[in-house]
Amino acid sequence: MKPIRKAVFPVAGLGTRFLPATKAMPKEMLPIVDKPLIQYAVEEAIAAGITDLIFVTGRNKRAIEDHFDNVPELEAELQAKNKQEMLEIVRSVLPSHVNCIYTRQSAPLGLGHAVLCAAPIVGDEPFAVLLADDLIDATTPVTQQLIEAAHKHEGSILAIQNVQPQDTSRYGIVSGIPAGPDTTRVSGIIEKPAPEEAPSTLGVVGRYVLEPEIFQHLRRTQAGVGGEIQLTDGIASLLENQSVFGLQYEGLRYDCGSKAGFFQATVELGRKYHGLG
Ligand code: UTP
Repeated sequence: MKPIRKAVFPVAGLGTRFLPATKAMPKEMLPIVDKPLIQYAVEEAIAAGITDLIFVTGRNKRAIEDHFDNVPELEAELQAKNKQEMLEIVRSVLPSHVNCIYTRQSAPLGLGHAVLCAAPIVGDEPFAVLLADDLIDATTPVTQQLIEAAHKHEGSILAIQNVQPQDTSRYGIVSGIPAGPDTTRVSGIIEKPAPEEAPSTLGVVGRYVLEPEIFQHLRRTQAGVGGEIQLTDGIASLLENQSVFGLQYEGLRYDCGSKAGFFQATVELGRKYHGLG
């Protein structure tokens, strides 16, 4: 398998669950304590060896581009006032060996469509996908765990976790057979099934390593649940030709796309990393 250097960050969603905060500001810029959600995801990808960050953006997402750009006047001001610690924080937002590439999703037609928008930039190599609203606190970054699994098993890898039976309708749910202590060889995947229709309680969370063939399948994928082109349906089609595995990752996930998860992440990361009791 080729090295995995590129990561796609779909950030074109409307973030309606956080209105009015997200009326003029991207959901991905909401901070947990002092860092925007998107930066947690970017740091995770870089820690896993990713060098090309591909952001699929939409309307109202300019703040994300600005966040990862240089701000010479701010740096000059901090330098003049000898605020070295702050200067370091500003400069370390993006290491110099990392490239940011931006492309637009013309309308929020679904996560599958957003990933497909990155196809001309990704080209013919495996790549990671990170959804910034799933913040995962882990000793080994989850993207790193997925990349290691992809090299071991040769196929696409989905981060999965056991979810509450009553919550299956919030996730893509996989079925399959064990392929190792924490790995499932996926034989089926379905988007947001009702509990009585769910084939298991193994839910897909917002981290993927995908083979480039996914794009051929996404091009053929019709709108599904919610009238959106679903990544889950593209993966269901990919499964017919290629191996897909689910990895029960090590780490604690916060669903920061929901108010409860966002609040919990703020409290727990604030306590753990910032001494905010
Ligand atoms: P969500 O399902 O959380 O949707 O998308 P959302 O629009 O961001 O938020 P709500 O539900 O209205 O509150 C999961 C991820 O997929 C991206 C989102 O930006 C988010 O990172 N996405 C979703 C796109 O980039 N494009 C889309 O068309 C849909």
